[in-house]
Amino acid sequence: MKPAATPPAGTALIGMFDSGVGGLSVLRAIAGHIPGQPVLFVADQAHVPYGTQSLETVRHYSEEITRYLLRCGAGLIVVACNTASAAALHHLRQVFPQVPFVGMEPAVKPAAEQTRSGVVGVLATPATFQGALYASVVERFARDVKVLQHTCPGLVEEIEAGRLQGERTRAILEEALGPMLAQGIDTVVLGCTHYPFVIPLIQEIVGPGVRVIDPAPAVARQAKRLLARVDRAGTAPGRTILMTTGQGEPFRRTILTLLAWDVPVEQIAWGQDLGRHVGDADPGR
Ligand code: DGL
Repeated sequence: MKPAATPPAGTALIGMFDSGVGGLSVLRAIAGHIPGQPVLFVADQAHVPYGTQSLETVRHYSEEITRYLLRCGAGLIVVACNTASAAALHHLRQVFPQVPFVGMEPAVKPAAEQTRSGVVGVLATPATFQGALYASVVERFARDVKVLQHTCPGLVEEIEAGRLQGERTRAILEEALGPMLAQGIDTVVLGCTHYPFVIPLIQEIVGPGVRVIDPAPAVARQAKRLLARVDRAGTAPGRTILMTTGQGEPFRRTILTLLAWDVPVEQIAWGQDLGRHVGDADPGR
């Protein structure tokens, strides 16, 4: 196993993962909200997209990546992926009961509170819409609101490729948002961590009168709250490490496009770094 990082003494290390570059929208929010916080980020680009795979498969990937992050010393796990949260958050909390987790759920609650037209749109992956988490937030918070859904097929792939303003990206978003606009939405919930990277295009399509909700800042605040409990000695300076199970160089270039961060990346591999069982030496159990 590659020694991903040794956290400085007294520092809680955040472990984060997503199917790909989407979780970087959450990492950006955490970097802004908790300056100097070291993070280990895994983009499982060997398996992207998660959103069209079964909940069971995504649960398996999520558990193995979590094991890896814990082995590398993470003290708090941020599931920076709505699909993985839908598929695995409940399971992860059961398997690793002493590990604090921050997960994602579509921000239907603030949308339902803020809408004036009473119609909100949610963009997320098919797996997220299938999960019990989504059904539960709609049931709990949006009873009096009309909630329209769209899965934006192909959008994650365009964002993975860094095509934030491309023809196809625009066509996918117009197809998703056109019918929602026709039905009177005034709020759009981004229920996939990839989508904040196309907020400028979404805003251009829906116009200034429609509010677009990105949950990343709320997730960063929650991570900071939980970290305060884990990290009793305070945050020491450390290094954020970005890893991919895909190809390093394209990942590095996409990070540059999406975040304007020119950073080194590490390649890790399934069957070698991940998904390899080390028996009862596993932390978190
Ligand atoms: N970024 C992820 C999410 O929040 C996963 C998208 C995908 O891989 O399909 O749902």
